[in-house]
Amino acid sequence: MFSMKKAMLTEDEIKSAVPQILDLNMAFFTQQCLYTMVKLRIPDVIGAETLSMKEICQRLGENVDQDLLFRQMRLLAEVGIFVETASEDGENQYCYSLALQGKLLQTGVEGQPSMACGVHHLSEQPAWKAWATLPEITSGQAKGEVPFERANGQRDVPYYKEHPESGKPFYEFMSFFSYSELKGILDEFDWSAFNGKIVCDIAGCYGVVMKAVKEKFPDITTINFDLPEVIEKAESIPGVQMVAGDMFDSSTIPSCNVVFMKHILHDWYDEVCIKIMKSLHKALPSDGKVVICDAILPKPGVTNPIAKSQKNLDMLMAIFGGKERNQDQYRAIFEASGWKIDSVLPMTSGGPLTGIITTSKV
Ligand SMILES: C[S@@+](CC[C@H](N)C(=O)[O-])C[C@H]1O[C@@H](n2cnc3c(N)ncnc32)[C@H](O)[C@@H]1O
Repeated sequence: MFSMKKAMLTEDEIKSAVPQILDLNMAFFTQQCLYTMVKLRIPDVIGAETLSMKEICQRLGENVDQDLLFRQMRLLAEVGIFVETASEDGENQYCYSLALQGKLLQTGVEGQPSMACGVHHLSEQPAWKAWATLPEITSGQAKGEVPFERANGQRDVPYYKEHPESGKPFYEFMSFFSYSELKGILDEFDWSAFNGKIVCDIAGCYGVVMKAVKEKFPDITTINFDLPEVIEKAESIPGVQMVAGDMFDSSTIPSCNVVFMKHILHDWYDEVCIKIMKSLHKALPSDGKVVICDAILPKPGVTNPIAKSQKNLDMLMAIFGGKERNQDQYRAIFEASGWKIDSVLPMTSGGPLTGIITTSKV
């Protein structure tokens, strides 16, 4: 089973490989320290000020472990979250202000998005526990199980419904992501072709995309569709109809000409994607279209400048029971559900993660 032929390294090669392996393995140290910062809302505590550790701890209250907090902040100053300086009072205290990335972790700043929700979602314990199941699932000990479900007893959607402390940052992060992708989605895709038509964003979360489409293309009728527990938390958007339902149940899908779906097929394994596409097939008229916005991975043996981000996203999806795909893998899903690819638009300014595939009924 194991190769009898071992790969040998020179001394120089060993010297160069050691720090790299250590760096790869210690990457999670900064991730978990960052999570502590978000949980304790340190970026909000500091804001636009420069504070000594003593002042930071005074604001947090007497129970805080000053030494442990300090050591995490000292590390994070090395990776662009904080700027570290010495106090000017002669006491040689460590002081911290927010560096650029740290500023983006503040919450409630008027007109400015926050990535605190993303840090929470990616680093919290339910996600963390799911990563720990990868070896046993990959080895076949728990073959076919979804890591998040194995670790937490439920898939993400029902889990987030029951645990709003995890659900809230997840849905906020989805909206955050959509904002960063909007420019490409609006500018590069020809939405004007749908003037006079009804477009429904299936599983559109709080409706960020349909809001932007409606503002730029007022002649399109826009609907945002998601699960009831999501729609009931969504704010109303002028000109966008909010509809609650279940995309697996075609009878709940509103009557429309075009379905838009962003980062939905990547949430599911192939068999489930086929079910979703079949449900849309049932719901849409014969000239209906489905516009899919997701990462399109390179073909085997090919790479591109954004492949690492795409493959990281793919691993995140692996934890939740989904996957990113290349064009041929999408085609196989469409062929199995009665759809064909009309066009593929690789996007250049919609964030590194998306391409748009337009499909119509076979
Ligand atoms: C990864 S998020 C993507 C949200 C949004 N399309 C975006 O790009 O930000 C997945 C979304 O699917 C929704 N969802 C999951 N299962 C669903 C179902 N059965 N019917 C409708 N929406 C569903 C979730 O509530 C969530 O908003």
